[in-house]
Amino acid sequence: MPSLTGTADLSPGAARAKGLYVETYGCQMNLADSELIVGALARHGYTAVAAPEDADVVLLNTCAIREHAEQRVAQRVRQLIAGRRDDRRVRVGLAGCMAQHHRERLLELIPGLDFVVGPDGYRRLGELLEGDEPAADVQLDRRETYEDIAPARGEGMRAWLTIMRGCDRFCTFCVVPFVRGRERSLPASVLEDEARRIAALGMKEVVLLGQTVNAYRHDDVDFGELLRRIAAVDGIERVRYTSPHPADMSDSDIAAMKECPEVMPYVHLPVQSGSDRMLAAMDRGHTIDEYRALVARMREAMPDLAFSTDIIVGYPGETEEDFEKTSALMEEVGFDHAFMFKYSAREGTRAFKIDETVGEQDKGRRLTRLIEEQEARAARVHRTLVGSVSRVLVESNAKRQADWLAGKNEHFKTVVFEPHGAAIGDIVAVRIESSSSHTLRGVQIES
Ligand code: 5AD
Ligand code: SF4
Repeated sequence: MPSLTGTADLSPGAARAKGLYVETYGCQMNLADSELIVGALARHGYTAVAAPEDADVVLLNTCAIREHAEQRVAQRVRQLIAGRRDDRRVRVGLAGCMAQHHRERLLELIPGLDFVVGPDGYRRLGELLEGDEPAADVQLDRRETYEDIAPARGEGMRAWLTIMRGCDRFCTFCVVPFVRGRERSLPASVLEDEARRIAALGMKEVVLLGQTVNAYRHDDVDFGELLRRIAAVDGIERVRYTSPHPADMSDSDIAAMKECPEVMPYVHLPVQSGSDRMLAAMDRGHTIDEYRALVARMREAMPDLAFSTDIIVGYPGETEEDFEKTSALMEEVGFDHAFMFKYSAREGTRAFKIDETVGEQDKGRRLTRLIEEQEARAARVHRTLVGSVSRVLVESNAKRQADWLAGKNEHFKTVVFEPHGAAIGDIVAVRIESSSSHTLRGVQIES
């Protein structure tokens, strides 16, 4: 039976371990894919190295969501190509969404680039690297889930677990369906096995990942049922997920969140805009009232639930009035956190064909205002937490305060605290004593 649990064995006869250096851009899906790439290439005799100077293969796992992200990577890869050692054959390549977006063209656009591999090509990457000529593998495969490839997991208490890949929603602005292909889910039994393997590594938290994570379905297991099964795995103390789509959130999902204490009371629920006109133009598949009703339904089930969101400003046609509605909705919902972006036209999407109506200056102004409002809101939310008790999964030493520890609370907020017996990996109660818009500070009250 296919499983994620097999160890990534070095191929017999591999002459010497070849060094693989990976840099990851973009979302958590890409972080998880980088672990998958390292796992897949381990079978071909590669081991991860921490610096490009030590590598035989230098790979940037890229994002295509906004043009700016692509420009940064283009600059970085040119720098790595220029700086590569010439005493051995070092191959430099691009993987992931930007690779899929521009395909073979990248080999011409970036002189010295050796390989281009899209999100469905990682299984064949080892062979691709054996060739002498620059090469691309940008074949999308609607069945590829990598369920038999064990990712090389990083250190720490939190593990990423990709439960589905691709997206079928085709929001007008978004390049993801084009670069990651159609939706496909992994079998629940494979995911449960992997969660057990994660627990055996001593990791306490699993974050279930997918482009529309709550669209998960495999045979008769839906997302809610999968949440229950992962939460039931011994040793997994916390379960989170990202990112769900509002229109896919079912009663079964909400019930599972409510009933499983391991599933943390925090949800990242992208809304993009507070204006119905914009949601319709973006083809998001729901209205603002439906979003409001969903938030209310989830809060009713879980009064302590914290929300974060994604916002786009300056989508074609967005008026000042539309923008004000976004600002008002963010206040009304009271998001604890938000990722806010200026609209960036992406070739291939439906919106790419629509003329932009919001100038760069107006986009900038709108974005700055939302960021300022969100910072103030977060600071306000955090102030109300002073005096309350958080349960913190301890992940590291505090950066700035000797002997203090740091971790995340139930709501995924960073808590820095004075320990009284806590160690990394523990979940401890911390009384919050002060706050800023980004961090809570406190003292451990029990071990
Ligand atoms: N321009 C700006 N932001 C975008 N996002 C996706 N596509 C674009 C785009 N073309 C944002 C959305 C999405 C998040 C992952 O990135 O807010 O939820
Ligand atoms: Fe992009 Fe929409 Fe799919 Fe999210 S749901 S990945 S925004 S197309």
